[in-house]
Amino acid sequence: MPGNTPAPAIEVAGLRKSFPTRTKKGDHVVLDGVDLVVPTGTVTALLGPNGAGKTTAVGVLSTLLRADAGTVRVAGHDVHDDPGAVRASIGVTGQITAVDDLLTGTENLRLMADLHHLGRAAGRRRTAELLEQFGLTEAAGKPVATYSGGMKRKLDLAMTLVGAPSVVFLDEPTTGLDPRSRRTLWDEVRSLVAGGTTILLTTQYLEEADRLADHVAVLDGGRIVAEGTPAELKSVHDAGSLDDVFLALTEPPTGDGSADDPATSKENVR
Ligand SMILES: Nc1ncnc2c1ncn2[C@@H]1O[C@H](COP(=O)(O)OP(=O)(O)OP(=O)(O)O)[C@@H](O)[C@H]1O
Ligand SMILES: [Mg+2]
Repeated sequence: MPGNTPAPAIEVAGLRKSFPTRTKKGDHVVLDGVDLVVPTGTVTALLGPNGAGKTTAVGVLSTLLRADAGTVRVAGHDVHDDPGAVRASIGVTGQITAVDDLLTGTENLRLMADLHHLGRAAGRRRTAELLEQFGLTEAAGKPVATYSGGMKRKLDLAMTLVGAPSVVFLDEPTTGLDPRSRRTLWDEVRSLVAGGTTILLTTQYLEEADRLADHVAVLDGGRIVAEGTPAELKSVHDAGSLDDVFLALTEPPTGDGSADDPATSKENVR
């Protein structure tokens, strides 16, 4: 289809999200006008210091949290007007794994297949396929409580993919994985993208963003403070690595990570 550019998989404009604080000083502004466009079939890495609001953003984009303002469209649907259609199009792997320790790998996957109304035969087929794909076939019949952290992470991602989502959110998908498992997961991400899936991932491993992402967006102080390809960011900031870009762009941490905390003032910059 030459010249026929599909609509972006994710379009975020003016997204704001605050959380109430226990003090009477007003709300804690976490997202203060975030704009982001993720083209279909690409990987975007959302970077930012702890507490920057990456998980909050993923929460809003995946309909788990409600935005205070702004528009968010995912897979062509508005998250506010049509959250059901968004949910049917996405997969989410949270920062904390969602696997059930008491069930086996197979049971966890079949549960997801049931939630997606795959039907018995299709559910079994998809489960076997994913177990194979993630190298979990041998452990499939064992309770997840006996799995290593990395195996749980892989099962978690496999569960995200049961419904063949067109947009996948991965919140720190490789935290705690050894280098080989991390590379296996990168390969999975690449093959998903080759098949047309769109990925938004958060990570603290900037090498991961460098290797995997077509596009990098850095969130700090409630806004996207820089974006571009990894090469563009390194070149603009005259930096050898994304680590250097990240350090140049982001504020040092404050007491509570609050974006509107007066302690985030420049006096704190060392
Ligand atoms: N449900 C909530 N209620 C109140 N405050 C919240 C809630 N969820 C997140 N926050 C606050 O919002 C800010 C952003 O948190 P968030 O988890 O989105 O950051 P993050 O960028 O994902 O950080 P990390 O890198 O540590 O995962 C933090 O200050 C956090 O304390
Ligand atoms: Mg987070």
